[in-house]
Amino acid sequence: MKVLVVYDSSYGNTEKIALSICAGMKEVGLNDVTCKKADSVTADDFKSADVWVLGSPTHVGSATGAIKKVLKSAIKTGASGKIGAAFDTRFDKASKGGAQKIQKMMERAGMKIAVPGEWFIVENMKGPLAPGEEAKAVTFGRKIAGAIRQK
Ligand SMILES: Cc1cc2nc3c(=O)[nH]c(=O)nc-3n(C[C@H](O)[C@H](O)[C@H](O)COP(=O)(O)O)c2cc1C
Repeated sequence: MKVLVVYDSSYGNTEKIALSICAGMKEVGLNDVTCKKADSVTADDFKSADVWVLGSPTHVGSATGAIKKVLKSAIKTGASGKIGAAFDTRFDKASKGGAQKIQKMMERAGMKIAVPGEWFIVENMKGPLAPGEEAKAVTFGRKIAGAIRQK
């Protein structure tokens, strides 16, 4: 299984989460994992991956424009039947976030969702992440790896 993790991040918090998710996947033996920021990912990266894991900071209750744009373009290259998972960073009290939007886009494109979207808490606009969130992201990475092995 070839896994592509794509994230957006204005202040580095979602990037830390993305890297921890990748570390979690690799810990449990998933070796073909590529982690890229939205502004450097290519159509070929998406085409060649079996699994897309996308993450975004929550902006106005949704994913950032950059992540939505990248996913929209990727879907045009063919998403149906691929496996997806979503995550975001957000404030503690937020009732919704970027993960829901990403997951909805994936579902509409006919992707199979590996595990329900997960979110990670930032204490302020620019961070830091709340204590324990990077460890939770490693666990989430392991959980995705376990789920995609069953697909
Ligand atoms: C323009 C803007 C809008 C935001 N809107 C929300 C929001 O609706 N809900 C929320 O929980 N956090 C919101 N935030 C805070 C982000 O969740 C936070 O900046 C982000 O998690 C930090 O991640 P990053 O360092 O990867 O950019 C917003 C931040 C910005 C800059």
